[in-house]
Amino acid sequence: MSATILSATTIGIEGVPVHVEADVQHGLPNFTVVGLPDAAVQESRERVRSAMRGAGFFFPRGRVTVNLAPADVKKAGPGFDLPIALALLVQTKQLPAEPCAQLMVVGELGLDASLRPVRGVLPLALVARFKGVQAFIVPQVNAQEAALVEGLTVFAPTTLPMLIAHLLGTVPLPAVTPEQRPSTQRNTESDFAQVRGQAHAKRALAVAAAGGHNILLIGPPGSGKTMLARCLPSILPELSRDEALDVTAIHSVGGVLPPDAPLQFARPFRTPHHTTSTVALIGGGSYPRPGEVSLAHHGVLYLDELPEFPRQALESLRQPLEDGVVTVARAAQTVKFPARFMLVTSQNPCPCGYRGDPKRHCTCSPGQMLRYDRRISGPLLDRIDLHIQVPRQDFATLRIDGAAAEPSASIRLRVEQARAVQRVRFQGSSLHVNAHMGARLVTKHCQVDTPSHALLQQAVDQLHLSARGYVRVLKVARTIADLAGAEKIELTHVAEALQYRPS
Ligand SMILES: Nc1ncnc2c1ncn2[C@@H]1O[C@H](COP(=O)(O)OP(=O)(O)OP(=O)(O)O)[C@@H](O)[C@H]1O
Ligand SMILES: [Mg+2]
Ligand SMILES: [Zn+2]
Repeated sequence: MSATILSATTIGIEGVPVHVEADVQHGLPNFTVVGLPDAAVQESRERVRSAMRGAGFFFPRGRVTVNLAPADVKKAGPGFDLPIALALLVQTKQLPAEPCAQLMVVGELGLDASLRPVRGVLPLALVARFKGVQAFIVPQVNAQEAALVEGLTVFAPTTLPMLIAHLLGTVPLPAVTPEQRPSTQRNTESDFAQVRGQAHAKRALAVAAAGGHNILLIGPPGSGKTMLARCLPSILPELSRDEALDVTAIHSVGGVLPPDAPLQFARPFRTPHHTTSTVALIGGGSYPRPGEVSLAHHGVLYLDELPEFPRQALESLRQPLEDGVVTVARAAQTVKFPARFMLVTSQNPCPCGYRGDPKRHCTCSPGQMLRYDRRISGPLLDRIDLHIQVPRQDFATLRIDGAAAEPSASIRLRVEQARAVQRVRFQGSSLHVNAHMGARLVTKHCQVDTPSHALLQQAVDQLHLSARGYVRVLKVARTIADLAGAEKIELTHVAEALQYRPS
């Protein structure tokens, strides 16, 4: 008879149960782990052996076989160390089977029998609750993340001996209680109050924030593009609890979750550098991990110096921008990660930075400009709703003794009001903002009057607006109307939305 301990792993951001079976037979000493284990699982043999001895147990002699079932699920990471150790302890009668029967167990073992944190604990905890286990055992560092799942009993030992003492009932552990943390403090570093002038760009960013629209800021060096973009989080509404749980699961699987505060209510604001690899941007690897587009889920992906990004990386943004998910295909399996983000980008108008500047001369050759423009494909630009010029401001605007600009907090109030209108509009659907409306909803919610029709017709002809561009203008107009508290889209809303298309 072999001993079995219930554990779990993640596929994408979904948890799946895994049964860890240990068997010991007479024969030459040998320790194998079967069931498609990756390199980390193989390494776990050393850690398990050393930790068991370190905790004062003996490691079984003979042929030791550990089977991770089901075999067709790819298992990644070191989280099976602890269930493997428990299964071996039960199998060799160093630990009674009964207290382990109703548990789910994950954790990496140190050589000294300490327990180290693992990734993706929230999705694993959801599986534990689904399976109705008596208790979920996680390393101490993962305690608060596991405790986010309501109705699940969590124990979080720091070492293997501590867990054994708990299971034997000699030194019971207290169940983990969720910490009530105050909602995250907003980062007050970047505030629109510090940005002088640039009223047009600020307005456009407020529209983008209100409706979840993608935005591109174009301007000469030092005009404040990066500064403006970094102020965006200060006007975005907080995450709901459900959104925060989604973000926690993705960040946990991606290994970027702060363990002390797993549930963050601030919207993600990801700023990958242009040297970031396509895999890091989109997700992937032989055991797929979420990329920046998924870490930005429910938040913002900010690509500064857009033309510096490799074209292939930019092209790969098209699917998530359209569908809100990325599909990472690998030989072994196809995995989907959520990736519903707002794309914010900035760039200079040309390599020297002064194309179109009224005061400074552009030194680029036509060939240089053409190559620069070609770096970003038309289809990507077409998915950006708002194209905003960020010109240099004159001294009178910039002087620091001038009147203070509107603070982010008051802009955020308008954004939140517009979002509240959208919440009512999309009640009962998975949609949150106008930017994500499909064709049916655009037809339903973006009807315009006759004068607006005429204006749009003119624009389609003059701006060579694509069908997608046309629909995007309608959605932006819907957001502008929502910001104005107008039930119907009016001519001024359409006119403003058209201003934001590239000329
Ligand atoms: N409108 C503004 N109000 C106040 N300070 C500004 C403004 N614009 C720029 N600055 C100051 O100039 C600095 C540089 O601006 P920023 O880095 O945002 O420029 P940029 O447009 O991103 O330039 P580059 O194209 O070189 O990346 C800011 O950190 C800020 O101190
Ligand atoms: Mg910049
Ligand atoms: Zn130039």
